[in-house]
This record gives sequence, structure tokens and C-alpha cells, in this order.
Amino acid sequence: MNKMEIPKELIEKLKSAKSILFFTGAGISAESGIDTFRGKGGLWNKMSAQELASFDGFMKNPNLVWEWYQYRRKNVRETEPNAGHKTIAEFEKYFNDVTVVTQNVDNLHKRAGSTNILELHGNIERNFCLDCKTFYDVEKFIEAHEVPKCEKCGGMIRPDVVWFGEMLPQGVFAEAERKAIESDVCFIVGTSAVVYPAAYIPISAKEAGATLVEINIEPTNISHQVDFSIIGKSGEVLPQIFEMLEL
Ligand code: APR
Ligand code: ZN
Repeated sequence: MNKMEIPKELIEKLKSAKSILFFTGAGISAESGIDTFRGKGGLWNKMSAQELASFDGFMKNPNLVWEWYQYRRKNVRETEPNAGHKTIAEFEKYFNDVTVVTQNVDNLHKRAGSTNILELHGNIERNFCLDCKTFYDVEKFIEAHEVPKCEKCGGMIRPDVVWFGEMLPQGVFAEAERKAIESDVCFIVGTSAVVYPAAYIPISAKEAGATLVEINIEPTNISHQVDFSIIGKSGEVLPQIFEMLEL
């Protein structure tokens, strides 16, 4: 990645920005070794999203879905945040209003040190009871190979992630919209931007006048709407941008 590919105007824009929003997807965790969903090697090319990431799928085959999330949790626990996550956390030290709005459930932004994170699709390290909604930390059932039962009411326990067709956590989405409208610069990092309503977030930012910066290894559905489209790995591009800011 040479400096030439990062436009000077972007660096100037960033230097005068007050509030920055990072809208991230699975691509930012790819360099940590976590599979993305679409594109080359994506999970949904080999497995059925309907079967594994929907409430119906869970009710049809609870132990299969539970086991798949146990596998993904183990995978996440064995990975580390990469330079992309860490650079975003660094931004918080130099800009007074930085928000991470992530579609990811892998907890890597938090582990990288970001503190202002809105998780649109939940968090794989949390579970809750279908009946009484009691939350349970991932440690509680770390070895369970079958759907555990709630200690309070005997109900079925499920991962606290948003499945296809489910509502996003209302308060979280509304807050993400609010921060998008407030943002001066909105980064769109490692997402195919095809899943709604999450993909509305950068659009709301644009409509409110934010500068949109896409970082992806290939063009996406949203590339034609952004002000800057940087083709490259987020774990390389983000540190490069940070370095050019000379903070
Ligand atoms: N750097 C930057 N971008 C990358 C990298 C990388 N190293 N590797 C892959 N990408 C890009 C891909 O080109 C693709 O555009 O990341 C994007 C990943 O897209 P998806 O796999 O569709 O993931 P995402 O956009 O987060 O999916 C949204 O769909 O399955 C649901 O709930 C799930 O949150 C997920 C949602
Ligand atoms: Zn319960």
C-alpha cells in the first residue's frame, strides 16, 4: 500500500473533522482470520444462512445452530483484533467524537480498545433465555454441545445475535442513525453493504452531509455513493491514513 492511493483531500477533511463514524462489517475482521459471509470464501457460499442464522432455523435444529455458534465463539476467542480494529481505537485518542457502528458480533472492536461501540447485530459472547430473557455470559455454557436450559425458568438459551428477519435492538439502531447524521466523516469498512436496515447508516450520514470513505478490497453496492473509495485491506489502509494525519 503506497501513500499515493490515499487522496490528500481526504486527509485534509479528516484533520478538520469533529465527529467520525466507522461503519464496519465482516471484512475488518478478515485479517484476524474470521470468515466473512459473502465474496471469496464467504460462509454463506458454503452454508445456509436460513438454516444457521434465523429463528426458524434455530427452532428446527436448535443443537445444530447452537453448535455452530459455539464453533464461531471458539474461533473468535482464538483470534486477535488486527491493525484495522486497533487504528480505529487510536482515533478515539485524537478526535473527541468517534463512534463505531458495527454489524459484527465478534467483539474485536471492544478487545482492540474502542469504547464507543454500537452493535447493530448483537454480540456472540452473550446468550439469553427465549422465555424470561435472562442474559448469560458465554463462559456460563462454554462447553455445552446442546442448547442449554435457563437456570431460572428452564427455557431455551440462544445467542444474543440478530438473526435474519429479526428486529435490530431498537435503541441501538436509533442511536446509530443519530450519530450517522451528526458525523462529519463516515468510514465504511469491510462491508458488502447489502444487509438492511444496517446498510441505511452510511446513507443517513451522506444525506446529512457527511463525507463517505469506503475501504474495501473490491468495489461494492455503495461504492458509487461514496466520496472516497480506497481499494485495499483495512488492516493496511487504516494505519496508513492514521500515519498521514501525523497526529
Ligand atoms: N479489508 C477490507 N474489506 C475486506 C477485507 C479486508 N481485508 N476482506 C474482505 N473484505 C470485504 C469484502 O470485499 C466484502 O465487501 O468485506 C466485505 C464483507 O462482506 P460480507 O461478508 O457480506 O459481510 P457484512 O457486509 O458484514 O455482512 C453484513 O450479513 O450475514 C449477515 O449479520 C451478518 O453482519 C452480517 C451482515
Ligand atoms: Zn429463563
